[in-house]
Amino acid sequence: MSKRLLFLGPPGAGKGTQAQLLAAERDLLHLSTGELLRAEVQAGTALGAEAQAVMARGELVSDALVLAIVRDRLISHDGGWLLDGFPRNLAQAEALSELLEELNQPIECVVLLQLDDGILLQRLLSRGRDDDNEAVIRNRLEVYREQTAPLIAFYRQLGLIREVEAEGAVETVAQRVVDGLG
Ligand code: AP5
Repeated sequence: MSKRLLFLGPPGAGKGTQAQLLAAERDLLHLSTGELLRAEVQAGTALGAEAQAVMARGELVSDALVLAIVRDRLISHDGGWLLDGFPRNLAQAEALSELLEELNQPIECVVLLQLDDGILLQRLLSRGRDDDNEAVIRNRLEVYREQTAPLIAFYRQLGLIREVEAEGAVETVAQRVVDGLG
């Protein structure tokens, strides 16, 4: 049973929703960089202040900042984990590989959630988070295509990708994720 996983996919594909369910079921640490950054903004920290405007535009917060957050959490955790929303570009993926080598904790599986843009847009517009207006969602999709989608080939080459169709009810998708993990 995989205990070190990544969830990859465009904004609104259901990474957070599915990661939370699987983490609870398998007793894994769920690490969402988006959630951690929003908590920093909420708490009014210097890190949050640095991230806030970037997130509002739907662009990526600096690699150094995000890496520091993930590194701290993984180094101090003793068990399985599930990363959601990280890595987001090749530089982050390479830095993660180095960190995991240092910790002797290789990734076992990358779950790739696939969903049409039209459905993503509808899901996000009906959620209404601060960065869920149409212009920002389109920018997040663009950033995903340009910077994050290349990770699919990166992890495919390592034989780690499990593709999951993310359309349908939350429970249906959750079952596909479990089936995909084998
Ligand atoms: P982040 O929080 O990671 O946002 P995102 O990738 O845009 O993802 P979302 O949370 O929008 O979607 P999701 O796929 O998790 O879907 P969810 O389950 O929430 O990042 C936000 C920002 O932080 C970034 O833009 C960037 O600025 C910054 N950031 C984060 N990580 C970073 C990094 N590593 N490096 C640099 N910057 C970083 O579902 C979406 C909605 O759909 C919800 O309302 C949910 O209830 C609903 N839903 C889910 N599943 C279903 C279903 N099956 N049917 C119907 N509705 C569903």
